[in-house]
Amino acid sequence: MVGWAVGRLALVTGAGSGIGRAACQVLSREGATVIAADRNYDAALETIKTHTALASGSNDVGEHCAIELDVADSKSVQNLVQTLSKQYRVPPRIIVNSAGITRDNWMLKLSEEDYESVLNVNLKGTFLIMQTFAKAMAEAKVSGSIVNISSIVGKYGNIGQTNYSASKAGVVAMTQTAAKELGKFNIRVNVVLPGFIDTPMVKTVPDKVKESLLKMVPLGRLGTPNEVAELIMFLASDKSSFINGASIDVTGGY
Ligand SMILES: NC(=O)c1ccc[n+]([C@@H]2O[C@H](COP(=O)([O-])OP(=O)(O)OC[C@H]3O[C@@H](n4cnc5c(N)ncnc54)[C@H](O)[C@@H]3O)[C@@H](O)[C@H]2O)c1
Repeated sequence: MVGWAVGRLALVTGAGSGIGRAACQVLSREGATVIAADRNYDAALETIKTHTALASGSNDVGEHCAIELDVADSKSVQNLVQTLSKQYRVPPRIIVNSAGITRDNWMLKLSEEDYESVLNVNLKGTFLIMQTFAKAMAEAKVSGSIVNISSIVGKYGNIGQTNYSASKAGVVAMTQTAAKELGKFNIRVNVVLPGFIDTPMVKTVPDKVKESLLKMVPLGRLGTPNEVAELIMFLASDKSSFINGASIDVTGGY
């Protein structure tokens, strides 16, 4: 296979579904060896088996793999880095932080538990993965690209999503800071802000709310996971070699 990503290892969290799965698909198409990590191991395995191009080429770094991971648990993240260091001779140079959850409710009814679980996965999880794998890249003296997934509601807020919108605004701010700190190691960090994308996550939004949200999308439809994955792919590649600390909307104009 000839592709810009041949010989590069890509770690994708939340790889068992939606945007993470599409990112695995697109990155493997470009020749990357993909590590599909998800809390749901079976779903991550399904991504590798049926949604990725086959690993190929003698200059490749190895086979794709699926791995169980809870991004919110530092022990699980440490286990991951240790497992990967045994399995591959180089650290992943492409990191896509797509693991995320919602626990929507009116702010006046939101439980502390639902507040904390969303912040733990979406914000702390992104932090733990960035910190751990940026360290591995810096120690190995390899350049890299980290792509975080925020949300357009991190910019504008959304009814029922105090916890989620706060976590996603945090991801934007954290990305900008990480980009400033990691530039000297030649590690770029950027963030994507999807609008409403047709994945299992959006299936929980009541139809009435969905209809009114769609009225605010000039393109008049939900986006596809692949439309987000193509942007992730661009940010992961050397084609975006001077883009660092950027926040890019992919919303159909919302
Ligand atoms: N779908 C949208 O409209 C939309 C819009 C904006 C942002 N996003 C963001 O994009 C990312 C992907 O969302 P999606 O729509 O593909 O959702 P999804 O629900 O289809 O997929 C999320 C995946 O993350 C995994 N996951 C959840 N918690 C985890 C944990 N603690 N550790 C590891 N994996 C975990 C799930 O098992 C699932 O496979 C999320 O960060 C989400 O917030 C989605």
